[in-house]
Amino acid sequence: MTTPTIELKPSSHPLSDAEREAILANPGFGRHFTDHMVTIRWTEGRGWHDAQLVPYAPLSIDPANMTLHYAQEIFEGLKAYRRPDGSVATFRPDANAKRFQTSARRLAMPELPVETFIAACDALVQQDKAWVPPHGGEESLYLRPFMIANEVGLGVRPANEYLFIVIASPAGAYFPGGVQPVSVWLSENYVRAVPGGMGFAKTGGNYAASLLAFAEAAEKGCDQVVWLDALEHKWVEEMGGMNLYFVYGDKIVTPALTGSLLAGITRDSLLQLARDLGYEAEEGRISTEAWKRDTENGTLTEVFACGTAAVITPVGSVKSEGAEWVQGDGKPGKVTMELRKRLLAIQTGTAEDVHGWTHDL
Ligand code: PLP
Ligand code: COI
Repeated sequence: MTTPTIELKPSSHPLSDAEREAILANPGFGRHFTDHMVTIRWTEGRGWHDAQLVPYAPLSIDPANMTLHYAQEIFEGLKAYRRPDGSVATFRPDANAKRFQTSARRLAMPELPVETFIAACDALVQQDKAWVPPHGGEESLYLRPFMIANEVGLGVRPANEYLFIVIASPAGAYFPGGVQPVSVWLSENYVRAVPGGMGFAKTGGNYAASLLAFAEAAEKGCDQVVWLDALEHKWVEEMGGMNLYFVYGDKIVTPALTGSLLAGITRDSLLQLARDLGYEAEEGRISTEAWKRDTENGTLTEVFACGTAAVITPVGSVKSEGAEWVQGDGKPGKVTMELRKRLLAIQTGTAEDVHGWTHDL
């Protein structure tokens, strides 16, 4: 499959430097978008074509566009960071590109070649480089590649046309409180994904399925939902937009990839980074019972969540129907913060990238 060349049609009305800098001073998460976007089309029999870098603008969509009815949609999330010398790099875009292909297969969509995915992200970041926040804080430029079906019709089948788009949004902390421990609700009434379902794919439907449980968590006074396995409601899987890690002294354990949770790129990076820092790191099975018991007997010292948007966020307290406990002393733990610091140092170019994870622009 050939990679189409990206045709450039720059915006004639980008935001002024002053407007952009005002946004970068307090970007929030997913509230502001840069001046451009990349679009690439796919048509049956023709493949990928018409790759363009165009001004950021609304799409015109037919009311009978298949995505609006049957949700054939997938997305990714990755970040571009400013280094101390002013240069910019993304973090493991090849891993996002491969996961995008995995999601595409599950949703019966065409697979975008890895090099096209990376070229599209690169083109957007190059063009809108001024939108990458300065080095020194935790801000970055969040990239959101996604793909939708683009055929008009109400028949239930894979579409014969698709649209791939990359947009970018300057990002501050995902949780408004910064590195504040979050409180989590163990969801027993709702499940996110079932064996044989699409939990391992990054598709909008998984997030739609999570919203009611979020509302339940909020009612219980919690910030986030922890998803349990669908069959026994017993085994910890992940959170709404993050994977989980359990710290047992100098061993860290993350739930194994059973097919119903997302294979996080941060999760995968931390398995390696933890080993680099001298910890044991493994994938395993953690029950809610063991979580409570091991916290109470002091062997489970810290729990944290990790993901591109949220980086690493400590879990401070846990609640379920009939149980409630504080995690450790409720404050960010030592291992959590050590891993967080090392990961951010590699991403922002202040620690050596021995694994070749950063991608220069
Ligand atoms: N799990 C879910 C459901 C997510 O949405 C995300 C975010 O992308 C993650 C885990 C973490 O994945 P990653 O580290 O690749 O961002
Ligand atoms: C990410 O971390 O990239 C996510 O996708 C999490 C959330 C914003 C959906």
